[in-house]
Amino acid sequence: MSDLEALLDEALAAVSRASNVADVENLRIQQLGKKGAMTGLLKTLGQLPEAERPAAGAEINRAKKKLEGALQNRKRALEQIEAEAAAAANAIDVTLPARGVAQGSLHPVSIVLDRIEQFFHSVGFDSVRGPEIEDDYHNFEALNLPEHHPARAMHDTFYVTDSLLLRTHTSPVQVRTMESRKPPFRIICPGKTYRVDPPDPSHLPMFHQVEGLMIDEQCSFADLKGIITEFLQVFFEREDLMVRFRPSYFPFTEPSAEVDVQCVHCLGAGCRVCSNTGWLEVMGSGMVHPRVLEMSGIDSERFLGFAFGMGPERLAMLRYGVSDMRHFVDSDVRFLEQFR
Ligand code: DAH
Repeated sequence: MSDLEALLDEALAAVSRASNVADVENLRIQQLGKKGAMTGLLKTLGQLPEAERPAAGAEINRAKKKLEGALQNRKRALEQIEAEAAAAANAIDVTLPARGVAQGSLHPVSIVLDRIEQFFHSVGFDSVRGPEIEDDYHNFEALNLPEHHPARAMHDTFYVTDSLLLRTHTSPVQVRTMESRKPPFRIICPGKTYRVDPPDPSHLPMFHQVEGLMIDEQCSFADLKGIITEFLQVFFEREDLMVRFRPSYFPFTEPSAEVDVQCVHCLGAGCRVCSNTGWLEVMGSGMVHPRVLEMSGIDSERFLGFAFGMGPERLAMLRYGVSDMRHFVDSDVRFLEQFR
């Protein structure tokens, strides 16, 4: 019986030292399994004198129960500790701030193109596209740009072959439209244009233009003034924005005018943006030259037209206060993110 007490104490001590569920199970097998120590003691009962057997048997069973209870408790306690450790290892900290979802945005030039199209669609103009690789005839000849015109020089125009080039403006799309449509019509032609200009704060070798053309039997310079003034006031979101038409020259229009708006930066007082003139040049315009109409098959006795051409990059710079045109092509996310 003294063996029993010693065995039990030792086993209970081992149970309390067990540091994981597997150790507890091993201890159970060592003590209570078929070949276990405690089970071995029960087998020795037969060697005791008959009179002592019941008491000894009861003692061994009590010790066995006690050990079983201790194993059970230790197992449960360790299971809970292990479960808690596993939960802690996979824990989600719900107090952490959420990871931001990166959101894209339209390019500022796209925003400006959309706004231009939206305005002109609302006053009855359709959008028309034309080829970026254009022929000499549509880009120059049919627009009354004579052969010796400086704009046709190699240093201004990217030539693909002797007679094919990257269009230097979107005006050839008005020629293509006059050739293919019957007047009256009103169209705008947004698109990319190319010139041999090394990039600097106000030039890019590739930029955008939006050309406009209206042809009708009744169509005057007053209509041109009205539509363009309205457009600029809507675009710059200033109902009282002053707009002026300054006499100018384009070979494809007669008369021709450059359109200026009151400086949107200083409101006319004079500043660096407007070179102290109080005005900003924003587009070219005029009444389509009768020769241009005739070359494209439109009867200039019956029809009149006005045309205009503007640069979305320039409009975006003025609208958003961008000081260098190269920002539009640098792909710097810090710049682009501001137009969300
Ligand atoms: N094509 C001209 C340019 O690139 C812009 C322009 C001026 C277009 C007057 C027009 C216009 O239609 O009437 O500078």
